[in-house]
Amino acid sequence: MLSSALINVMVKAARRAGRSLSRDLGEIENLQVSLKGPANFVSLADKRAEEMLYADLAKSRPGYGFIGEEGGNREGADKSHTWIVDPLDGTTNFLHGIPQFAISIGLRREGTIIAGVIYNPANDELYIAERGKGAFLNDQRLRVAGRRKLDECVVACGLPHIGRGDHELALREMAVLQNKVAGFRRFGAASLDMAFVAAGRLDGYWERNLQPWDMAAGQIMIREAGGVVSGIEGSDDPLKTGNVICGNEFVHGELVKILKAVGK
Ligand code: IPD
Ligand code: CA
Ligand code: CA
Repeated sequence: MLSSALINVMVKAARRAGRSLSRDLGEIENLQVSLKGPANFVSLADKRAEEMLYADLAKSRPGYGFIGEEGGNREGADKSHTWIVDPLDGTTNFLHGIPQFAISIGLRREGTIIAGVIYNPANDELYIAERGKGAFLNDQRLRVAGRRKLDECVVACGLPHIGRGDHELALREMAVLQNKVAGFRRFGAASLDMAFVAAGRLDGYWERNLQPWDMAAGQIMIREAGGVVSGIEGSDDPLKTGNVICGNEFVHGELVKILKAVGK
């Protein structure tokens, strides 16, 4: 099991915010029937979790910068370190009571992600990774899947929903991939999709138009589990382009080839 002062700080913060999300998830069921609907409540749950994460992380590492989905960019005196945080990844799942959502915390030092924690409080799965020290799910060391035949692979993607992204391109991508893989999945929480690739549950995953907080922790998780992460071009930085492809070296290479061609 990976344990360091830094990881302990991140895990403690993720678990406290996780308890808050779990309590709020319980409330969602009551709110489903209210006229106002649960959407406003969820955005409060989101903000509450982010405030907790900010408070805990800032207390343990004063001066680090903080980029959170809900609170924007908070500069710190220490310009080399920045937390990149999604307090609730998988909001739509959360809103519908689907237990596939997570808190995602990445730490960037001088432009490189050096640690990541992804925590799903609904099933208590805790993924951690630190640069050069490996990736773990609870106590178990992670390794990406070894499959080298695309027709045996299970691959996940993200799909643009109403008012977002290029729907026609997403359909073309799926149509091509559908013909080549053993199974397609769309789980609805990017950080967990990446954690699943690190854990070898998924052979590959791609999505367009993401934000850094969706991918920062997932990126180090996959790299420390021996996998490859890039943008759609194959060597671009997903945290800069917002597009991500990941898998083992073979699956990543195949997905890059196929998706690049579809995108042209
Ligand atoms: C979303 C989830 C989803 C992905 C979306 C993201 P949110 O994050 O990761 O899987 O398809 O593009 O925005 O809004 O639930 O934090
Ligand atoms: Ca997200
Ligand atoms: Ca979010």
